[in-house]
Amino acid sequence: MTELLNVIRGRKSVRSFDGNPLRSEDREKLEQTAAAITNPFGIPVRFVFLDAAENGLSSPVLTGEKMYVAGIVEKKPYADVAFGYALEQLVLTAWSMGIGTTWIGGTMKRELFEKAAGVQAGEMMPCMSPLGYPAKKKSVKETLMRKGVGADNRLPAEKLFFQDSFDQPLSGQQAAELGDLIEMVRWAPSAVNKQPWRVVIRDGQAHFYEKKDKGYVGEATGDLQKIDVGIALSHFVMGLKEQNRQPEVMISDPGIQTPENTEYIASVRF
Ligand SMILES: Cc1cc2nc3c(=O)[nH]c(=O)nc-3n(C[C@H](O)[C@H](O)[C@H](O)COP(=O)(O)O)c2cc1C
Repeated sequence: MTELLNVIRGRKSVRSFDGNPLRSEDREKLEQTAAAITNPFGIPVRFVFLDAAENGLSSPVLTGEKMYVAGIVEKKPYADVAFGYALEQLVLTAWSMGIGTTWIGGTMKRELFEKAAGVQAGEMMPCMSPLGYPAKKKSVKETLMRKGVGADNRLPAEKLFFQDSFDQPLSGQQAAELGDLIEMVRWAPSAVNKQPWRVVIRDGQAHFYEKKDKGYVGEATGDLQKIDVGIALSHFVMGLKEQNRQPEVMISDPGIQTPENTEYIASVRF
């Protein structure tokens, strides 16, 4: 398994923490990582580290966390995709350092986090994440939540990846060549573990689409499922870079006929 695939396959949302604050060297490294994160959409995402006690912050699904990171982005088209792409890089760096995270877009007192993070007019803070060291044992609530959304499972590759059009699942040599990259995309985290990304491979490009469900769009969050697609896209691009390839991300709809409720998002030339 490649190093990146190992991190991606190993990562799980962590909702039970050991009650210790982040060591200062860990916090510094995460802050440096956050400050250097970019995304292909040219939409800046800024990260604010928030002490739980100082700001009176908590979340009903978390225990033992002492710190959060909130991400803020200007409201505009592709802000949600850029946000997913950006924050996931911090999530994976944290995991590789032994630090747990959970993408949280719903289960928090949103006004308190937005105020503490300093969200300005015209901006949004779609999600935050706790940052801390995982507890030895998961809380009962966490175990139940994971069961509820089937958090240890993902859809099979043939439901997510297609060849040339949505009529034909990716198979054979193409699927074998993209093996690790497919796994990296499959194992991305998503809101309620819906995995709304779909990918059509055609002429050396991967075209990413969003398969929309109802109830994921809000004024304060943007489209949570576009965030999910941004996360999946970031895994694909990081995977290509790990193979020393030079992927190019662009927004250029190839005009492939889409199933119902499926929207084109972006393409990667590889
Ligand atoms: C955009 C987004 C929003 C999420 N919002 C929440 C949330 O509000 N509360 C929560 O407990 N988990 C939330 N999650 C975490 C997902 O439930 C989790 O990633 C998914 O079940 C897969 O589990 P895993 O991360 O352990 O692989 C969110 C994930 C994403 C990507």
